[in-house]
Amino acid sequence: MHILRQQHKRPYVCASCTRRIAATFVRSRHDIGSAQPAIARLYSTARLRPSIIPRFTPGRYIPSRPSSYDYSTAKTTRGSLRVAIIGSGPAGFYTAYRLLSKVQDVVVDMYEQLPVPYGLVRFGVAPDHPEVKNCQDTFEEVAQSPRFNYVGNVHVGRDIDLSTMKPHYDAMLFSYGASEDRKLGIPGEDLPGVYSAREFVGWYNGLPEFQGLRPQLQAGEQALVIGQGNVALDVARILLTPVDALRNTDITEHAIQTLSDSRVRSVRIVGRRGPVQAAFTVKEARELMHIPPVAFEPIDPSLYPPDIKKLPRVQKRIAEVLLKGTKLSPRDSPKSWALDFLKAPISMNAESTHLSSVTFRRQQFAEDADPFNNLARVVPTDEEITMKASLAFRSVGYKSTPLAGLLDFGVPFDTKMGIIPNDIHGRVISPSLGPGNLTAGHMHGLYCAGWVKRGPTGVIASTMQDAFTSADVIAHDWQADVPFLNDVSGGSGSTGLGWDSVKEKVIAKGIRPLSWADWKRIDEVERARGRSKGKEREKFVSVEEMLAMLDA
Ligand SMILES: Cc1cc2nc3c(=O)[nH]c(=O)nc-3n(C[C@H](O)[C@H](O)[C@H](O)COP(=O)(O)OP(=O)(O)OC[C@H]3O[C@@H](n4cnc5c(N)ncnc54)[C@H](O)[C@@H]3O)c2cc1C
Ligand SMILES: NC(=O)c1ccc[n+]([C@@H]2O[C@H](COP(=O)([O-])OP(=O)(O)OC[C@H]3O[C@@H](n4cnc5c(N)ncnc54)[C@H](OP(=O)(O)O)[C@@H]3O)[C@@H](O)[C@H]2O)c1
Repeated sequence: MHILRQQHKRPYVCASCTRRIAATFVRSRHDIGSAQPAIARLYSTARLRPSIIPRFTPGRYIPSRPSSYDYSTAKTTRGSLRVAIIGSGPAGFYTAYRLLSKVQDVVVDMYEQLPVPYGLVRFGVAPDHPEVKNCQDTFEEVAQSPRFNYVGNVHVGRDIDLSTMKPHYDAMLFSYGASEDRKLGIPGEDLPGVYSAREFVGWYNGLPEFQGLRPQLQAGEQALVIGQGNVALDVARILLTPVDALRNTDITEHAIQTLSDSRVRSVRIVGRRGPVQAAFTVKEARELMHIPPVAFEPIDPSLYPPDIKKLPRVQKRIAEVLLKGTKLSPRDSPKSWALDFLKAPISMNAESTHLSSVTFRRQQFAEDADPFNNLARVVPTDEEITMKASLAFRSVGYKSTPLAGLLDFGVPFDTKMGIIPNDIHGRVISPSLGPGNLTAGHMHGLYCAGWVKRGPTGVIASTMQDAFTSADVIAHDWQADVPFLNDVSGGSGSTGLGWDSVKEKVIAKGIRPLSWADWKRIDEVERARGRSKGKEREKFVSVEEMLAMLDA
């Protein structure tokens, strides 16, 4: 098959993410059969064997451009390049950073639905990981460029539609992340006492959408977290960390109050596969081992091979940490955590109306699976196990959805993988533009980056590398004189006015767009509010509060 022979560069990813990205591709193999052939082609570049892409048959693929995306920094003969970036998380900012340095006369308008920038760096990264937020210094540098405009408080698709923006841009980059979470699809999932990790994380980080959450941390002593990724470990750590250790972080004041009243003493993090397949990384596991006075319930050593040195390096390091555990045992400690393996949730159960337990079906490794291989598959057994719990957090991954109006704009969306189909480098592709129905062509001028490009996995460093790749292909395409958004053949057909032209339409709708200077005022006031409490910042937790402060 031609596609499989193509030598695509794979997206750059850090070692810990490689494992999970590979797992994501394998996890989705059953979905691919019903996906568009073009999407199957896309995934086929991830080195899947043809046998696991059941309905994909080889087509004649005629690449419309070179598969490499090497760029030159030579000035193009075209005028200036006007780009709309949708989303101000790491993907948007790192793409802007790279574009500004590679294309001399690019002008970037970055649209953000919230008044405040940085996406999950502000609203996802745990408050006790302040060093992770240092990437904001680079983003600040980007924003200082005279060729960069921040357009905050404008929700693309709702406050302004893509077709209104289109005439004024040469390119658009979708970097709007993943604003939903995956569901388990089991009975009782919506009971009081059951929360998605995304809403809980958003709540303690001050995301306006979740300020009404009021998690009932007083409901009982036992909490379960379903899923074993790093988000699950973040949730467990926040539930178990003594509140005084969080007070000087940028966690919100109301979260501190609720956590102070929490009765949670035990957190069990439950996975459907084994420890070798768990998605969390060693640093996060180690952190949980080092919260005084939280004990770790020893894991069953038979889940590991007799000689853990034979495991791949990443899994070996995790095994060392888990097998070592903590000095304190759960019996001697007021608080504890545990990892449960090979249990898939099948129902969440209530006593009166509140969650009281979760029932799991025990899983076992498939006959042909190597339990010590990180991609091993599991199958259900007949055994059911019910665990008491007064709180449960669903932490089985985030999910991107199509931006409002995206499909009408002609951009396809893969709802199963939760991505905008792309050529892996970041060019948005559509089957309707391919030379045949088994292929897909680039939608001129449209690009993507970050979680909406490759699915909701990867840390900031891998998102940065991925965004750099997207910026490089934009620069390459611009300099290679290929058609862009409004072009028929070479030469820009856009007005090039970008935000200058879109602005009045947004304001006419009663929307108040915010500039970088507006964000800096919010930032300054948040820091001042924090200083008085001995913390980094006290965030505003509603859009109304932010706008009112700016008006004051
Ligand atoms: C809970 C959690 C904790 C994490 N902790 C870490 C960590 O400690 N270290 C680490 O390296 N990585 C961490 N990550 C991963 C990291 O946050 C992601 O890799 C990264 O944020 C993805 O970047 P992105 O730009 O694709 O998406 P996002 O960061 O989600 O940014 C998307 C942006 O688009 C905006 N947007 C959405 N829709 C629209 C619209 N219609 N119009 C305009 N704007 C829109 C959103 O408001 C948001 O600002 C964490 C992830 C999560 C979920
Ligand atoms: N400190 C950090 O660096 C940090 C912190 C937070 C997040 N992040 C990053 O952000 C990304 C997203 O993290 P995440 O934790 O949301 O996702 P994730 O890493 O993809 O983990 C999802 C977990 O949910 C499980 N799962 C999925 N569907 C399930 C189901 N139906 N039933 C039971 N379990 C199910 C998965 O198990 P299977 O493997 O069996 O599917 C996996 O254990 C990751 O790349 C992560 O590293 C990093």
